[in-house]
Amino acid sequence: MIPLEIKAVADQAPSVTTLFFDKEIGTIPGQFGMFWLPDVGQRPMSFSRSDAITVRVVGPFSQALASLEPGDVISMEGPYGNGFSLSGGRVLLIGGGFGIAPLRFLAQRCHERGARVTTMLGFRCQDDLFFEEEMSSYGDVWVATEDGSCGYEGLVSCLFEQVGYDFDQAYCCGPEPMMKAVLDHYRDRVPLQLLLERYMKCGMGLCGSCEIDGMLVCKDGPVFTPDQLGPSFGACKRDKTGRLIPLG
Ligand SMILES: Cc1cc2nc3c(=O)[nH]c(=O)nc-3n(C[C@H](O)[C@H](O)[C@H](O)COP(=O)(O)OP(=O)(O)OC[C@H]3O[C@@H](n4cnc5c(N)ncnc54)[C@H](O)[C@@H]3O)c2cc1C
Ligand code: FES
Repeated sequence: MIPLEIKAVADQAPSVTTLFFDKEIGTIPGQFGMFWLPDVGQRPMSFSRSDAITVRVVGPFSQALASLEPGDVISMEGPYGNGFSLSGGRVLLIGGGFGIAPLRFLAQRCHERGARVTTMLGFRCQDDLFFEEEMSSYGDVWVATEDGSCGYEGLVSCLFEQVGYDFDQAYCCGPEPMMKAVLDHYRDRVPLQLLLERYMKCGMGLCGSCEIDGMLVCKDGPVFTPDQLGPSFGACKRDKTGRLIPLG
């Protein structure tokens, strides 16, 4: 376990907080750490920078994590997982919800290696939007909100035709129904990598809780290409007891 001291905390949006650590973590975009809080539990978190994670409060663990203050210390195992494979001079990033966190780190790395970065962001409403300004510093950003309070009105899919397909590589992370729509639309148009979120107990290939169509998201992923994904993607997931349930 690596002890990490919280150096600073930044609110990005209501219920979205970035925790900055006292040191850089040797990681690549798309990898995750297993973060442990005494008496609360452990959960996987992607890195939004080499020295930070960005947390959306949805339950007890994320609430406890987002309540940490500068000077507090948290333990992490990892980094785990394969991460994104960086390639191409013209890259498209498509994200929604917490999926923007690993894409922020990816945009930074793509920009540093000289790629032209275009980002599509989908949110429910303007209040949920975060990292738009940071992503704009790496390239063009297109926004869609379901209620039309910012950018185009509708799901992120309403941007597909306008943004076009002139890209060497596309990367996607967000709610699985959104990723399924991206996969169905882009799979024959642009090479695609998708970061999957599955319930994870151990994060290191031991418990099987993150299994999808014979693969372990924590070890074989969390980044997959379309040809690796089977019928469970976009259709079902395992709950905390390991039971297969339809994707909500
Ligand atoms: C590879 C990987 C990377 C991840 N990276 C991040 C990250 O960078 N930032 C982050 O905030 N979370 C991330 N998560 C999710 C995180 O691990 C936890 O699942 C999440 O924080 C919820 O834990 P909890 O105990 O607070 O809530 P729980 O009690 O586990 O869940 C409360 C409710 O929220 C729903 N829920 C769980 N996760 C989410 C979510 N992300 N968005 C919307 N609803 C959700 C659950 O289905 C449940 O209904 C990642 C997960 C994986 C597998
Ligand atoms: S989380 Fe245990 S095997 Fe993937």
